[in-house]
Amino acid sequence: MYYETAKIKANALINKKSAVILAIESSCDETAAAVIENGRTIRSNVISTQIAIHQKYGGVVPEIASRRHTQTVAQVVDSAMKEANLAFSQLDAVAVTCGPGLVGALLVGVAYAKALAFSLELPLIGVHHIEGHISANYLTHTELEPPFMALVVSGGHSHIVQVSGYGCYNLLGATRDDAAGEAFDKVARVLGLPYPGGIEIDRLSASGDPHAFHFGSTIDREDNYDFSFSGTKTAVVNLVHRLEQKGEIIPVADIAASFQESVVSVLSQKAVRAALSHGCNHLVIAGGVAANSSLRARLSQLTAAAGITLYAPALPLCTDNAAMIGAAAFYRLLCGDLADTSLNANASMRLFA
Ligand code: KG4
Ligand code: ZN
Repeated sequence: MYYETAKIKANALINKKSAVILAIESSCDETAAAVIENGRTIRSNVISTQIAIHQKYGGVVPEIASRRHTQTVAQVVDSAMKEANLAFSQLDAVAVTCGPGLVGALLVGVAYAKALAFSLELPLIGVHHIEGHISANYLTHTELEPPFMALVVSGGHSHIVQVSGYGCYNLLGATRDDAAGEAFDKVARVLGLPYPGGIEIDRLSASGDPHAFHFGSTIDREDNYDFSFSGTKTAVVNLVHRLEQKGEIIPVADIAASFQESVVSVLSQKAVRAALSHGCNHLVIAGGVAANSSLRARLSQLTAAAGITLYAPALPLCTDNAAMIGAAAFYRLLCGDLADTSLNANASMRLFA
């Protein structure tokens, strides 16, 4: 009965191509809720971060993350509704990240969204986290439409994806080991910087020499769209250990800047090459590492020289948030992609065939 009612409501929304969607995101260490109108307008965007809680462990502790999500999800959803100045009865649909991510963390958002959709008799939309990251660009650049090439660089993923339409993704390349953000976080840890390390390395690199050390990987020169950051990370770890053994001072800023340079250089070169060789003159970046100042600057230079338009999300929309999930959900809804109450969390959910 619930699903039939939700389907009728969804069809009406599809016909008028308009929906106010409450979105929930809890795949890692941010409990987030947002209200998004027609996939493009942010009515509210609330994020409760757990960074301070996980910082003392040097990374996210899954069990603590899930418990914290259960404690905060209701409050975060209520704040998003208040900020949007809406009553629950004014919502058109409920969306939630259902994967990939930490399974216990995902389950909190999924269970909450299902209960809400069921009790309000609203359509329910399950969203892939990476599709959310890409869709953050629809909120910042309201004119942006597929087709485009996307470089997705987060704590868990490093992908080059050809986006040929809403919901149409073709994976051209990916990391063979660590994700870019993961490498930033691990290198930061070795350098004694707090979690999450990406932003710390970004900040510190401003005062370092990016050419002091060379940390590249052989895959960087290969004629494909794949990445490998594990060797780069190990090279940094070995250098730090060697210097420590010799009792030398660790040139932290130079190491940070050189590491960042090696990552930024391969990401930007391969992304621009992918766009050019597939006849795409729009390149989109997404994910937490898309906040990196050096990556944004390098890609601006390379795309300008190649006649490509570069799109990056506003800084607060690069890292995990629910606004991006609401944007992605709108286009899922228009495709008639509805979930029912059997929706489950999928820790290794796939976006590509
Ligand atoms: O997309 P995100 O919030 O979470 C995942 O889906 O994984 O990405 C988090 C990652 C972390 O690894 C963090 O260190 C990295 O994004 N990050 C950055 C910067 N800001 C966040 N990496 C490099 N430079 C930054 N400014
Ligand atoms: Zn993310």
